[in-house]
Amino acid sequence: MADYDDNKIDTPFTLFNNETGKSFEIPVIKGTDGPDVLDIRKLYQDTGLFTYDPGFTSTASCDSSITYIDGKNGILRHRGYDINDLASKSDFLEVCYLLLHGDLPSSEDKRKFNEVISTHTMLHEQLVNLYRGFRRDAHPMAIMVGVVGALSAFYHDSTDFSDINQRMIACHRLIAKIPTIGAMAYKYSVGQPFVYPKNNLSYAENFLYMTFSVPTENFEISPKIVKAMDRFFILHADHEQNASTSTVRLAGSSGANPFACIAAGIASLWGPAHGGANEAVIKMLEEIGSVENIPIYIKKAKDNEDPFRLMGFGHRVYKNYDPRASVMKESAHEVLKELNKLDDPLFQLALELEKIALNDNYFIEKKLFPNVDFYSGIILKALGFPTSMFTVLFAIGRTVGWISQWKEMIEDPINKIGRPRQLYKGHNSREYQLESTREKKSIFKWLWK
Ligand code: SDX
Repeated sequence: MADYDDNKIDTPFTLFNNETGKSFEIPVIKGTDGPDVLDIRKLYQDTGLFTYDPGFTSTASCDSSITYIDGKNGILRHRGYDINDLASKSDFLEVCYLLLHGDLPSSEDKRKFNEVISTHTMLHEQLVNLYRGFRRDAHPMAIMVGVVGALSAFYHDSTDFSDINQRMIACHRLIAKIPTIGAMAYKYSVGQPFVYPKNNLSYAENFLYMTFSVPTENFEISPKIVKAMDRFFILHADHEQNASTSTVRLAGSSGANPFACIAAGIASLWGPAHGGANEAVIKMLEEIGSVENIPIYIKKAKDNEDPFRLMGFGHRVYKNYDPRASVMKESAHEVLKELNKLDDPLFQLALELEKIALNDNYFIEKKLFPNVDFYSGIILKALGFPTSMFTVLFAIGRTVGWISQWKEMIEDPINKIGRPRQLYKGHNSREYQLESTREKKSIFKWLWK
C-alpha cells in the first residue's frame, strides 16, 4: 500500500481535551475517492483513549484498491469499472481476473486465466467422502463451511502463502472449486449422484450442469439462463469491507490459511442480516402471500416493537437504490420471460411491495431501498434452486471477492494482526466467594427437558 505521507492532507484535525487542556493533532489521509480518514493509529498511545464504534459505522478497517461504493449516489465500482458496465459487457471469470490482478485481462491472459480455472474444478476424490458424513437434510451452507474448511487438509502445497506462487494457486483453486463444492452440496441434499465438472463449459454453465444434470438424460440449457447465472455471480463478486469480507480479513490477519479464512467468510455470510437475506426474502414473500396483505407487513416493518424487518430492504452503506438490485430486477424479468413465468406470483408481489415501500415515508426517511438480495431470490427460485441453496450461490459469487481482499491484505507490508479493544462495563475487582457463602436461590433455568 502507498506510504501514508504521500496521502496525508495538510490540515490535520486537532483533538482538544477540555479536562487536561491538552490538544492532539490527528492526521487526515485522503483516498482516491470517498471520505478521507482520521489516522487514529497513535490515539491510544497519545491520549490513553480508545474510539468507540460498535458495528464499525464510521470506521475504515483498512485501505483497499479493489472496490469502491458511494452509498449516497448508489455507485459500485470494481477497480474503477462501474458494476453496470461489468454486468452488461463483461463475464464472471473476467471480473475474477480484474478483482485479483487489478486490470482487465488481455485476450491472451483471459485465455490463460480461463484455462487455469477450468482445469482445477475437480475436488480431491477423498473430499467426496466428507459429504457422506453429513445428514442428507443438512443445510447446504453447513456443508460449504465444512468442506471449504477441510480443503487445507488436502492442498498442503498452497498454504505457504508467503510464496506468491502458492498464494495464486490457493486463489485459483478456491475460485475453480467453489461451484463444484456448492453443486455437490445440492446433489447430496436431494439424494442424486454427484456430477463431475466439464472443462469445455463456461463457469456458469458448468455450475448449472453440475447442479441440474442427471446421468440418465442429456443436459441442455438456454444461453439466456447461463448469462443470467453468470451475471448473478458478477453482482455478488465483491462489496468492500462487508461483514463476511471483514471476517476473512480478520481471520487472515493471524496468518490462518486461505481455505480456513474463506470458510470463516462463508459462516459470516450465512446470517439473515447479510447473505442469508436472499433466502429470508422468499420466505417473507411467501408469508405475505398476497398483495392485499402488504399493508399489514409494512406496518410490522415500521413498528420498532416488532422484530419483523422487510428483508432485502436497507443497507449499511447504500442510502440510495443498490445498483446491483436494479440489474437484478431486470435480470429477474428476463429470466421469468425466458421461462414463461412472467406471471410468477412472488415476482408480482415483490414489484408491488417495492412500489408501496418506496412511496412510504418511513422507508423514504430512513433511506431504505431494495438491496442486492431483494430480487435475487426470485431469479434463483425460477431457475429451480431450493431456498436453502440461495446463500450458497451468494458464496460462490463472493469467493473471488473474499480471496482478492485476503490477497491484498497479505501483500500489504503494513498488514498486522487485527485486535480491536473494548469499552469494559463489567464488575470491578471483587473477592472470591466460597460456595457455602453464596446466594441460595437458583437462577439457572436452561435445563434440557
Ligand atoms: C447484504 O455490507 C454489505 O455490503 C452487505 C452486502 C454485500 O454485498 O456484502 O450488500 C449484502 O448483506 C445486503 C443486506 C441484506 N440484509 C437484509 O436485507 C436484511 C434486512 N436489512 C436490515 O437488517 C438492515 O437494513 C441491514 C442489516 C442491511 C443494515 O442495517 P444497519 O445499517 O445496521 O441499519 P439499522 O439496523 O441501524 O437500521 C437503521 C434504521 C433502524 O430504525 P431506527 O432504529 O433508526 O428507528 O432503519 C430500520 C431500523 O429499524 N431498518 C429497517 C430495515 N432495515 C433497517 N426497518 C424495516 N425493514 C428493514 N429492512
